[in-house]
Amino acid sequence: MRRPLVAGNWKLHGDRALCASLCLAARAAAGSHPAVEVLLLPPVTLLGLAVELTAHTAVRVGAQTCSAHAQGAYTGEVSAALLREAGAEYVLVGHSERRQYFGASDEVIAEQYRRALEAGLIPILCVGEGLDEREHGRTEAVLERQLSAVLERVGVNGIGGGVLAYEPVWAIGTGRTASPQQAQQAHAFLRSQIAARDASIADSLRILYGGSVKANNAAELLQCTDVDGALVGGASLSAAEFTQIVAAAEPSLA
Ligand code: PGA
Repeated sequence: MRRPLVAGNWKLHGDRALCASLCLAARAAAGSHPAVEVLLLPPVTLLGLAVELTAHTAVRVGAQTCSAHAQGAYTGEVSAALLREAGAEYVLVGHSERRQYFGASDEVIAEQYRRALEAGLIPILCVGEGLDEREHGRTEAVLERQLSAVLERVGVNGIGGGVLAYEPVWAIGTGRTASPQQAQQAHAFLRSQIAARDASIADSLRILYGGSVKANNAAELLQCTDVDGALVGGASLSAAEFTQIVAAAEPSLA
């Protein structure tokens, strides 16, 4: 049985005041839905505050990216070990915004993933196709390429130490979500890629869906057999929306 995970990716939004109110809401949501793992991914300077405000609760905190380097002359970078020391337990790796706007290659992403594992963080590897790729029938080829870059680096056991997130780029921040059928198909494909290497890792691996998840579409997406949670961007900045998404991930409803 895979425990559902609902993660709020705040991206570059929020300040200390919003952090305080979202932590409060997350604590309440996690308290009412203990079967669901609740994770907050604030901007890095709010990480310590979020860790403090959720200490001794079921809410988990993580970061949105980490360096591919452990240390050195890399101005502006933050290593996985420093994030772990600051209280992070998870880290996003390969979010499409990192790939698109900051030039993160499959290679760099694989190294970030490896660094995260090495530092004791749980990496959440984001994969997903662009609109053009979907329209040209290349969805599975793209997912396979993105996944195998990391598999080559850390092996199937390394994938088993993390979480996958399917995030079709055309659905991120656009208000356009994948249909439950599209999501299920991509998730099943990803799981089959892992199953071909290790059936039991595939069976226990959590695969989150991300891309315009809102309170009003979360339930139908989370009901899909291979959808084990949600990676929520915009809607995670609203305490009410995020709380409803956590509620929709309750296994009894799924
Ligand atoms: P969105 O973002 O929910 O705003 O589409 C999801 C994500 O980028 O993780």
